Amino acid sequence: MTLERQKVALIGDGAVGSSYAYAMMHQGLAEEFVIVDVIKKRTEGDALDLEDAQVFTSPKHIYSGDYSDCADADLAIITAGAPQKPGETRLDLVNKNLKIMQSIIKPLVGSGFKGVLVVAANPVDILTYAAQKFSGFPKNRVFGSGTSLDSARLRVALGKKLDLNPQSVDAYILGEHGDSEFAAYSAARIGGQPFLDVAKKAGLSSDDLATIEDQTRHKAYEIINRKGATFYGVATCLMRISRAVLRDENTILPVGAPLDGEYGLTDIYIGTPAVINANGIAKVIEVPLNDDEKAKMTASAETLQKTTANGMA
Ligand code: LAC
Repeated sequence: MTLERQKVALIGDGAVGSSYAYAMMHQGLAEEFVIVDVIKKRTEGDALDLEDAQVFTSPKHIYSGDYSDCADADLAIITAGAPQKPGETRLDLVNKNLKIMQSIIKPLVGSGFKGVLVVAANPVDILTYAAQKFSGFPKNRVFGSGTSLDSARLRVALGKKLDLNPQSVDAYILGEHGDSEFAAYSAARIGGQPFLDVAKKAGLSSDDLATIEDQTRHKAYEIINRKGATFYGVATCLMRISRAVLRDENTILPVGAPLDGEYGLTDIYIGTPAVINANGIAKVIEVPLNDDEKAKMTASAETLQKTTANGMA
């Protein structure tokens, strides 16, 4: 990858994909941006609409294209898939979205794409696992948005409680991007101080922390019940992940990463921090967990592995 002229391929131009493209315009990331989707009128309309923004953001060749246009992309983002409807869990989407993922990976591999692949369709951990298996790409070059959005939601909630900029709250949601996710409170830090000490001094009880964790876990449902979908939060996470890849940053971000023994787990993608750079995952980070959190990580992994086995049988 050269840092001079970079290219991103967006596969899936629904609400998440379109919001991601708009975020990328504002960040001035990538000089070329191809949008791929089965609905060509949508991708053509979005490209024509988005290109007008470059006058006030940065020059970008943004266009509607096909998988053949992905061959020389440095980064491909897959958002294509059926979104959750009110009352649906992310895991409920597994069968239909595995079929869509298969229909994407085949032509993407066929295009000769050799860049970093990031998956954001749900259930994202299982679809990321499937994307790596279907493509045969090295595991470091395929990862998912994982618990990046969930961790952002936790940081926002804790920032509100502690009257802090959420960027000053160092805390992670780990595990499934879904109903079995959990907050690694014992590893959280505020200005270098153990979060649990700060929370206690702020009068937050363990019940309060459990409530915040639960509200974080269910925030997507609250948003979907009100506006029918979520897209700005996850699109901004995808933009931040894209910047770490395209700028070769070696930044630590919570993503859906491939485990090879971390937390005693293998052959799974799950939410944990990882070092992200131009090659994708440079290093998976195993967060030190207390016994309760270790049990939650194991339970979350079991949920994912059971659903993956059923979905990919
Ligand atoms: C959410 C979707 C992206 O959590 O799964 O909003």
